[in-house]
Amino acid sequence: MSSGRSQIWRRRTGTTFWVRAGLILFLIVFVWVQISFVDFGSSGSSYPEFNDSQAAILSMVPVVLHKFLAAKPRNGTVNGLNGSYSNLPYYKASFNITDIKRNIAQYNLQQTVYNEDLFGPLQNDSVVVVIQIHDRITYLRHLIVSLAQARDISQALLVFSHDYYDEEINSLVQSVDFCKVIQIFYPFSIQTHPNEFPGEDPGDCPRDIKKDKALEVKCNNALYPDLYGHYREAKFTQTKHHWWWKVNRVFNQLEVTRNHSGLVLFLEEDHYVAEDFIYILRLMDKTCKESCTHCNILSLGTYLKTYNYYGDAKKVELTPWISSKHNMGMAFNRTTWNEIVKCSSYFCKYDDYNWDWSLQHVSQNCLKQKLFAMVARGPRVFHIGECGVHHKKDNCGSTAVISKVQQVLKSAKRHLFPDYLILNYATILKKSKLRKGNGGWGDHRDHKLCMGMTIA
Ligand SMILES: *[C@@H]1O[C@H](CO)[C@@H](O)[C@H](O)[C@H]1NC(C)=O
Ligand SMILES: *[C@@H]1O[C@H](CO)[C@@H](O)[C@H](O)[C@H]1NC(C)=O
Ligand SMILES: *[C@@H]1O[C@H](CO)[C@@H](O)[C@H](O)[C@H]1NC(C)=O
Ligand SMILES: *[C@@H]1O[C@H](CO)[C@@H](O)[C@H](O)[C@H]1NC(C)=O
Ligand SMILES: *[C@@H]1O[C@H](CO)[C@@H](O)[C@H](O)[C@H]1NC(C)=O
Ligand SMILES: *[C@@H]1O[C@H](CO)[C@@H](O)[C@H](O)[C@H]1NC(C)=O
Ligand SMILES: *[C@@H]1O[C@H](CO)[C@@H](O)[C@H](O)[C@H]1NC(C)=O
Repeated sequence: MSSGRSQIWRRRTGTTFWVRAGLILFLIVFVWVQISFVDFGSSGSSYPEFNDSQAAILSMVPVVLHKFLAAKPRNGTVNGLNGSYSNLPYYKASFNITDIKRNIAQYNLQQTVYNEDLFGPLQNDSVVVVIQIHDRITYLRHLIVSLAQARDISQALLVFSHDYYDEEINSLVQSVDFCKVIQIFYPFSIQTHPNEFPGEDPGDCPRDIKKDKALEVKCNNALYPDLYGHYREAKFTQTKHHWWWKVNRVFNQLEVTRNHSGLVLFLEEDHYVAEDFIYILRLMDKTCKESCTHCNILSLGTYLKTYNYYGDAKKVELTPWISSKHNMGMAFNRTTWNEIVKCSSYFCKYDDYNWDWSLQHVSQNCLKQKLFAMVARGPRVFHIGECGVHHKKDNCGSTAVISKVQQVLKSAKRHLFPDYLILNYATILKKSKLRKGNGGWGDHRDHKLCMGMTIA
């Protein structure tokens, strides 16, 4: 999607001269970057300029933040770091499900906000950052290190939303000392429902059984295969349920956030933020109010593999929100949420197990004003997870991407914190034909569980 109509927005009044000079500078830098571009996100070790040894990664992290990378001592090395960084106590985590359920209920009831005494109550112009977490603690450590280095993080509230209970993750989260923190726990996880819905009930139909056969053997969900004829797979449903639950929880239920009128940013455990992400978010928000009143969602990340970070550091694109492109580092406020939540049945009953495709379905088929995004061309949120929650690859332990992101941000450092943003309207390509969902969400029990999360 190339940029068509273009508009310049300046924070302070400036002259056309500076605008022109700026544009010329962009061109020069653009060309230079083309020559010495940074390749990002492709296969690991073929780029010798990236030293991805643990020592190199650590050398890029301020010493005071090494504690967040410190694994607790276990047999051998954990997360590639040796004993010298392992000075925290070791908790033997052997909870049974009863314990876990009790602890989760307690956390969700108490709603303890850590560090509120140090950083004061949440202001309505503070940024709330909601982080969806499963179990990939190594990535989470690096996300926390990146958050710790962000300007104005001390005014933010981090909401860690867990669907996997683990004491090592808990103590990591509770060790965050640079801003307010609250933990919430998705209460319908597979971990706490291993042999019953929403986990896998032994009476459920196998994924590939034919419907007539399913009806014959009378398995639980025989009537509800997805639009491709497959039956539910519990592990693929959890992320969408968790996503919907946490957004409802934050906007409508949590005491600390349920009256918050400002921005809420959504991250995942394998994201990594630039140090100006809050600054940019505020600048984008302000720019929207002045120059793009139909913008109702912000996006801090894109999935480009190679990009001209330098020229793009202050560019934003105005575009209809597209799930596959703009689902990373998304932010919106209660106004947008109130519209989305009115369309909960479109989200919860759409036969697609992806939350972002479901949100796109909501946008296209239900919202009065479709989701329209302001997207940072120079990403402020990066994806460092080589391996998804379900898609394990050979190199899952690899930290090559972390190293690359560190290098990219280091070389982009002086381009961060731009004074103003340059707006580009994306050329709207021919309307892509409406897609069928990806399936995996045909089971009426999932629809019902999801809908139930909205009733506060
Ligand atoms: C990687 O960086 C570490 C620490 O900075 C250094 O000791 C090591 O020699 C470097 N390795 C390569 C291959 O450059
Ligand atoms: C490794 O763990 C096992 C079981 O927890 C324990 O018996 C063993 O002593 C440990 N080994 C070392 C070197 O700590
Ligand atoms: C960790 O310890 C092992 C042997 O105990 C050593 O070979 C390795 O280099 C150490 N790694 C780091 C990052 O210090
Ligand atoms: C779970 O463990 C606790 C002790 O931590 C014990 O009291 C309880 O009976 C256990 N419950 C089950 C179902 O095993
Ligand atoms: C935030 O709160 C202040 C006073 O507490 C108020 O003046 C301001 O209008 C509020 N802003 C929003 C966006 O609600
Ligand atoms: C939120 O607003 C409700 C009423 O609108 C009020 O009763 C409640 O005290 C407020 N909560 C906080 C934390 O401000
Ligand atoms: C929330 O976002 C909408 C755009 O979606 C904007 O018009 C409104 O001013 C924002 N509200 C606050 C309190 O910032």
